[in-house]
Amino acid sequence: MGHGIAEVAAISGMEVKLIDVSWDILNRAKERMTDSLKRLYERGVIKDSPDSIMSLIEMSVSYDVAKSVDFAIEAVPEILDLKRKVFNELDKVVPKESILATNTSSIPISDVAETTSRKQKVIGMHFFNPPPLMKLVEVIPSKYTSEETVDFTVDLSKKMGKTPVRLRVEVPGFVSNRIFLRLLQEACREVEAGEATIEEVDSTARNKLNLPMGIFELADYVGLDVVVDLWKVIVERGASDVKCSSFKRKVEAKELGVKTGKGFYTYPSPGKYSKVKLPQESRLKPERLISLAVNEGAWLIENDIVNAHEIDTVMKLGFNFPKGIMEMADSLGLENIVNNLKGIYNLGYKAYEPNPILLNMVSSGAKFYKA
Ligand code: 3HC
Repeated sequence: MGHGIAEVAAISGMEVKLIDVSWDILNRAKERMTDSLKRLYERGVIKDSPDSIMSLIEMSVSYDVAKSVDFAIEAVPEILDLKRKVFNELDKVVPKESILATNTSSIPISDVAETTSRKQKVIGMHFFNPPPLMKLVEVIPSKYTSEETVDFTVDLSKKMGKTPVRLRVEVPGFVSNRIFLRLLQEACREVEAGEATIEEVDSTARNKLNLPMGIFELADYVGLDVVVDLWKVIVERGASDVKCSSFKRKVEAKELGVKTGKGFYTYPSPGKYSKVKLPQESRLKPERLISLAVNEGAWLIENDIVNAHEIDTVMKLGFNFPKGIMEMADSLGLENIVNNLKGIYNLGYKAYEPNPILLNMVSSGAKFYKA
């Protein structure tokens, strides 16, 4: 993610300092940025040559290069202690008036901010993979973040060509990964309960819901280690769990998805994604696959974190869904969604207890887009 974010900033004409722990990693990042820029240039998406854009990016294994930056974005793995360590370093080096952002996919921003001497200048800025193509940035203020910091970050996101969605309250996993987690959980439950195969789950996602990738395919694309981390962070901070071990087992076997060349599917080589082949037919109904995600959406609305329209913007611009998840629920029928939730809940999965908002909407015949 780090090199993708650096690439986006450079495409927008900003000078970038890219820091990592080794030259091996930085050289790989350079190759990937150059390859991505070439593809964008060939398609006419960018006008400046890849070389001129790359000349804006300085790479380093030392924090020293950050001593004059206006804005820093951290993108290290989802380990709170590691994030805190990086923020301590940045806090020492980066000018006191500059903002420190974290591209965490799930960790509450306050937990990271508390380690710095500028809590009001720490914010969440969550990009989506691959950053050069995905239009969304979630902007997540912590309980300490100042309005000025939020406004600056919203503005910067726009300057980077992105559409920001601002959360009103910080919540572990934000909007995007809370909904993504629920899709992963139901996909995993389906397979482990023997209700559908991995390929059938992904066929329903791609062929019936018209998503750009299947759920397991997307997990492979994001990285199964990232998936396991975000699952853990969100569940440890209070979201209900769905017992399921398929993702963990893949990580234990060091099959991390596209990045290692093998996850649930096999890819041409490590780091090289190619669309997976899927059967046309599937036993799994689309309303069953999205039911838990829609329930999560209702929870986000109930807790006044975002509204249905904002949830759908997140799913359309962050995951390239052709329609938002709440809009899909409307067209597949809220009653069908609730019936699936009740059915799975009755099998003993507590996470599927239908949200009161959904129950009320079904009894009054309401829809999200008329409500
Ligand atoms: N840079 C530049 N160009 C790229 C690129 C990159 N990184 N990746 C793909 N492309 C280009 C390809 O070259 C291709 O160009 P062409 O049409 O000229 O050949 C075009 O984009 C389409 O790519 P592909 O043919 O390889 O495959 P797809 O048509 O499936 O598109 C995709 C790829 C845009 C990634 C699409 O599959 C998609 O939108 N998938 C969903 C991605 C998603 O959901 N991301 C969010 C993940 S969650 C997350 O990041 C949050 C975190 O916290 C976990």
